[in-house]
Amino acid sequence: MASFFVSAKPLPEQELAVGELSQRTGVAISTLHFYEKKGLIKSFRNSSNHRRYPRDVIRVISVIKIAQSAGISLFEIKQQFARLTNQKKVTIDDWKQLSAAWHDTLNNRINTLTALRDNIDGCIGCGCLSMSRCQLVNPEDIAAQQGPGPHIDNDTD
Ligand code: FES
Repeated sequence: MASFFVSAKPLPEQELAVGELSQRTGVAISTLHFYEKKGLIKSFRNSSNHRRYPRDVIRVISVIKIAQSAGISLFEIKQQFARLTNQKKVTIDDWKQLSAAWHDTLNNRINTLTALRDNIDGCIGCGCLSMSRCQLVNPEDIAAQQGPGPHIDNDTD
């Protein structure tokens, strides 16, 4: 499995045990292991065969946390990580590239959620769940462009 942000073996003072990394990032140990299993971060074994993480991974985890809080999936995050030229750490330029890539995705989600918010009131108390009328059920429906809520017509579903 491809992993990103693999630093050359760091000096001991640059190493973090998984518990330290969890404490520094606020991410549960089990989640860190999950990220590693998904190839988003990578550990190495020190001379005592203990699992260690390079300090650079803190910034990687920060990016993952920010992206996840914005609704970006781990799959999408991994896809964008793969496009970064420097896969040893997340630089300011990397962050600019990542945020630009997610800008359109976030705008689309905001528009979808805004439409959902604006139309849900019309559905409360209606309950028709009509494929031809309900924007919640069928957001692309042409009849939905007449506005939220049920519309009086003679069509049958
Ligand atoms: S439930 Fe959405 S329009 Fe009736």
